[in-house]
Amino acid sequence: MKQVLIVGATSGISKALAYHFASKHVNLILAGRDMEEINRLATDLEIRYGIHANTIYFDALKEENISSFFERCLQLTGDLDGIIVSYGLMHDQKEMEQNRSSIREMINVNFTSVVYILEEAARFFEKKQKGFICAISSVAGDRGRRNNYIYGASKGAITVYLQGLRNRLAHSKVNVLTVKPGFVDTKMTYGLLKPSILVAPPRTIAASIYKSILKKKEILYTPWYWFYIMQVIRMVPEKLFKFIKW
Ligand SMILES: NC(=O)c1ccc[n+]([C@@H]2O[C@H](COP(=O)([O-])OP(=O)(O)OC[C@H]3O[C@@H](n4cnc5c(N)ncnc54)[C@H](OP(=O)(O)O)[C@@H]3O)[C@@H](O)[C@H]2O)c1
Repeated sequence: MKQVLIVGATSGISKALAYHFASKHVNLILAGRDMEEINRLATDLEIRYGIHANTIYFDALKEENISSFFERCLQLTGDLDGIIVSYGLMHDQKEMEQNRSSIREMINVNFTSVVYILEEAARFFEKKQKGFICAISSVAGDRGRRNNYIYGASKGAITVYLQGLRNRLAHSKVNVLTVKPGFVDTKMTYGLLKPSILVAPPRTIAASIYKSILKKKEILYTPWYWFYIMQVIRMVPEKLFKFIKW
């Protein structure tokens, strides 16, 4: 693996991914909105690990920016071994119940823009017959619950999209990895979660993603115990589940 694109490079999980991949001597393209922070990150990675890190502006809500985005990334390096999409929004459920524009924004960021980019990426890797596509969904997409179901639905939609994409690319040697983290200690969850063994540091998530890409895994629950937690949660009958307050 020589060259990987990370979209949403300022997210907590992306930054941990960037450090992990750079430490394995993988060159990076870092994409996101906050160019000052992204350029700082790129310089730090280059100095620490002697890799080459390109940077590029990306805003998931600007359609004109998205439509040429993947093409412009390719122009920077000429080739790519894989793409990781790791940005997102989690608006407050109660606020979204009152505010359509907030719903629209979250769905456009978490779902529509991801599909746009990955369709371009899929075309490229399919033609090349090689590479990987990785996107961050969430355990929240496995079952809707009252406190988070609009965010959960945006993640469930990504999970289904990636499933279909994997099916489409099964005969080209392109691996599609769906990542389903549990609780991760980042800006997204700041102030929402009490410190607990269920809240993982981003570096744990990054290391497991790197390993899964090398192993060509298809679905990753991370940390691993979320696989078992979600098995149990999925088994609760709907007649009971609908009364649980969470
Ligand atoms: N944290 C968790 O517990 C958790 C659990 C499961 C899944 N996930 C998923 O993991 C992924 C990364 O999450 P995180 O917690 O690491 O994120 P985070 O630290 O909260 O950062 C959110 C990222 O999304 C970017 N973003 C928001 N709107 C954008 C837009 N319009 N265009 C471009 N970028 C935009 C932000 O960019 P700016 O810096 O420019 O604002 C930032 O880089 C997300 O898909 C999230 O849903 C997180």
